[in-house]
Amino acid sequence: MFPRRTIVLIHCTYGRYLVEGCPDVTEIVCAEPNVFMLPQLRAAAARCEAQRTAAGGKALRIVVHHGTAEQWLATEAASGAFDACVIFLVLCSVGDPQNLVALLHDRALRPGGRLIFHEHVAPTSAIHRAVFAAMQPLWGLFGDGCQLSRNTASNVRTAAPWASFTMLWQLGGPIPHAAAEAVKA
Ligand SMILES: C[S@@+](CC[C@H](N)C(=O)[O-])C[C@H]1O[C@@H](n2cnc3c(N)ncnc32)[C@H](O)[C@@H]1O
Repeated sequence: MFPRRTIVLIHCTYGRYLVEGCPDVTEIVCAEPNVFMLPQLRAAAARCEAQRTAAGGKALRIVVHHGTAEQWLATEAASGAFDACVIFLVLCSVGDPQNLVALLHDRALRPGGRLIFHEHVAPTSAIHRAVFAAMQPLWGLFGDGCQLSRNTASNVRTAAPWASFTMLWQLGGPIPHAAAEAVKA
């Protein structure tokens, strides 16, 4: 469960899981640079807020920032007081994931705050990696710059001086995924 405030970089369509499963969350920030994603994101944010109201729970405010997370982190709103940062399928697409994670650590999370991610990651087998390398040009072109072979877990672990870093799960298959939690000291 997430506590009081959460910054999410996930697509807010998935934000409903935070709304349903985390009744104490009262503020969510979504940063999205792609203008074509914004209408869907804003509609999902409004649905999440309405769902909370209808359920009679704590008021929920979802702020949709049009721009990169890095741009949002440069504003005063990134108060260093957020309890959690949830990243779902975004670090594959940002220009410099380690820089973004370091900024989230330094500028958004409070001490003891948690960064949690679920991302698709580089495969372990050499053949699989070669297939991904061949697919990458077209994949990136049609996937808004998405990178298939990032070592996201180690990128996050080494991006900041975390108090702890815990792998939550690693899934194989055609597109391997990993999830982990890092806690700020
Ligand atoms: C692979 S898509 C996934 C979208 C969404 N998380 C989902 O699961 O449907 C990657 C998303 O990351 C966004 N993105 C890329 N760079 C970003 C950045 N610097 N800050 C915030 N979002 C970014 C893209 O615009 C895109 O919406």
